[in-house]
Amino acid sequence: MENIQNMSKDIVIDPWGTSYVKDYSKLIKEFGMRPFTEDIIRRLPKVHRLIKRGIIFGHRDLEIILDALEKNKEYAIMTGIKPSGPFHLGSKLTAEEFIYFQQLSNKAFGYYAIADLEAYIDNKLPLEESYKIAIDNLMDLLAMGLDPERVYVYRQSEEHSVMKLAFIFSRGVTFNTLKAIYGDRPFGLYFSALVQAGDILAPQIPERGGPKPTVVPVGADQDPHIRLTRDLAHKYQKDLGFIPPAATYHKLLRDLTGQIKMSKRNPMGILYLNESLESARRKIMNTFTGGRATAEEQKRLGGKPEVCAVFIELLSVHFVEDQKMLEEWYWDCKTGKILCGECKARAWEIIENWLKRHREKRSKMRDIAEKLLREHTLS
Ligand code: TRP
Ligand code: SF4
Repeated sequence: MENIQNMSKDIVIDPWGTSYVKDYSKLIKEFGMRPFTEDIIRRLPKVHRLIKRGIIFGHRDLEIILDALEKNKEYAIMTGIKPSGPFHLGSKLTAEEFIYFQQLSNKAFGYYAIADLEAYIDNKLPLEESYKIAIDNLMDLLAMGLDPERVYVYRQSEEHSVMKLAFIFSRGVTFNTLKAIYGDRPFGLYFSALVQAGDILAPQIPERGGPKPTVVPVGADQDPHIRLTRDLAHKYQKDLGFIPPAATYHKLLRDLTGQIKMSKRNPMGILYLNESLESARRKIMNTFTGGRATAEEQKRLGGKPEVCAVFIELLSVHFVEDQKMLEEWYWDCKTGKILCGECKARAWEIIENWLKRHREKRSKMRDIAEKLLREHTLS
């Protein structure tokens, strides 16, 4: 396996730190991911805007899910969240992907891990803290459309089957393998990687109906975990019958100030789904743009939507569903028809509406979120 340190500096993948990818086609090539080809897209019953726009840029083995869809067979969607704080735009992205795969088929069943052990190891977050944040996060997921009847939600610290798998897997890897994948790390992080492999393969244990196609929607920074898990699935295939999990990958997005994700987050760069509208508005107005030095120049030369975080991170990734509207917006900027002040005001109007509606839906979800986490499943 490729070593983090060996990679060219155009690509840095670190699931617990700062990751950076200059060129995604290079990432795909170097690590054996696969792009979303026409063939794949054609077989999807519904194409998510994040796929259309290349934000979800690659996958592994998605064919096993497409086969399941075509044969109307069951499959699992598995993902997890480190409950490090309230939902923000980054968490919204994974949540949308999870819900998308859940909605594609009524034979799909979701597994959602609250990674409280990882948060404890990586961020020193006490487990009780994690619990509160998890309830809060679940309310967002439910407001976004998660079907509570077809999901199993659990905390890593409470999930015996996951721990057991992690323990079994510890026999299947050597220290050198872990070091080759993750670099030299505190042992707790290696252990939490094995727990994550446990998360991903647990939907396939006999108690949960045995081997089944599983898809894991994640950010590109999680790929080392996916590769480790797929190796372990092969290694234990004879004993446990695992089907190596499929994965879809989204790009690593910048924060609103235009910075790549830093291990220490800058609060001005992160839009939380539940912060006050006043504070949200301030962040939108301060978002990094592709504007020119003066209004005169921008009218003459046009703006640069292709580098602008308002255009890419806010409009294209999150808040404009309509493709035609997005394209018009692009050209209005590119031809200097619209200036950044007006553009941000327009963007804010859309975002404010979204936030208001989200909050209203969310406010009704506390009971069901608590019930889900207490009872794991409602069905
Ligand atoms: N490591 C993931 C993160 O930092 C969280 C996670 C835990 C996860 N278990 C998982 C992601 C299983 C995908 C599948 O966000
Ligand atoms: Fe970005 Fe809008 Fe300014 Fe264009 S006009 S650079 S899209 S903020």
